[in-house]
Amino acid sequence: MRILKKATDLRKALPRKKSIAFVPTMGALHAGHMALIKAAADSHDLVVASIFVNPTQFNERSDLQKYPRTPKEDAALLKAHGCDFLYLPDVADVYPDGMKKNAAKNIDFGPLTATMEGANRPGHFDGVAQVVSRLLEIVEPDTLVLGQKDYQQVAVIRAMIQRLDLLVRVLVVPTVREFDGLAMSSRNKLLNTDERAAAAMINRQLAAVVAGLAAGWPTQPLEQMALSALGEHDLLDPEYVQIFDGDTLLPYLDGDNVRELVVATAVRCGDVRLIDNRIVDLPNP
Ligand code: PAJ
Repeated sequence: MRILKKATDLRKALPRKKSIAFVPTMGALHAGHMALIKAAADSHDLVVASIFVNPTQFNERSDLQKYPRTPKEDAALLKAHGCDFLYLPDVADVYPDGMKKNAAKNIDFGPLTATMEGANRPGHFDGVAQVVSRLLEIVEPDTLVLGQKDYQQVAVIRAMIQRLDLLVRVLVVPTVREFDGLAMSSRNKLLNTDERAAAAMINRQLAAVVAGLAAGWPTQPLEQMALSALGEHDLLDPEYVQIFDGDTLLPYLDGDNVRELVVATAVRCGDVRLIDNRIVDLPNP
């Protein structure tokens, strides 16, 4: 695996006649990220990963400062899982004209960013769109590989690709979980033992909502029940539990006909904010 710190060097190093899958990350890599690398390697000639803790998508300074950074371990993991190129830039290489200027920043995502993470983290998705559009410009991959763990992020990036007319496919990989169901996340490293144990409740509550929906229960009481159950735990502070239409990301109204029904949550656990979601298996029409 080659590690490159400059966009110009990476572009020179990438052979143009091979199919390229690109896996952008912020590092502190785990088995969830590795599932993306594997999916990329299985279907393409070359895998490019990036590790860049993007300042423009953090709406809390403390979150950016304490974001875990483990570059040596990350590089070893990527190499072991079949990554061919690692782009490991500094801020100036990603944003040579400064962090404020970028085409993707001006996209209005409308309802896609009006709820959930968009509503709770002002500016977050503008920063995500900004960095991903820049990374795509540098790597020019055939396929962009993303995790279902960040469901709303996938929807926003798909919309960005469409608005900017970019020629790239999106491959979405299912969420990888810990033994107790907690979605793997770089932020899990910041939880103490008690918080880590409490965090397992997040997935259990999502599973309860999914089971309720499958049994035909109405939406609102299910959201409310999960919210109260999470809120009752001393170490958990839920921000939202939302059942929504996977295409529009708008709240699901009972009886609506949707292609994909999803439940998502964001929960504060100590100082750490965790997100998770589950897709509901809908009976075939
Ligand atoms: P990061 O949180 O490092 O995640 C990188 C990719 O890994 C994302 O596509 C995310 O959805 C996926 N991922 C994270 N945890 C996962 C899990 N448990 N199972 C499967 N996939 C998982 O998301 C970002 O970085 C950034 O916003 C980024 C897209 C890199 C832009 O800065």
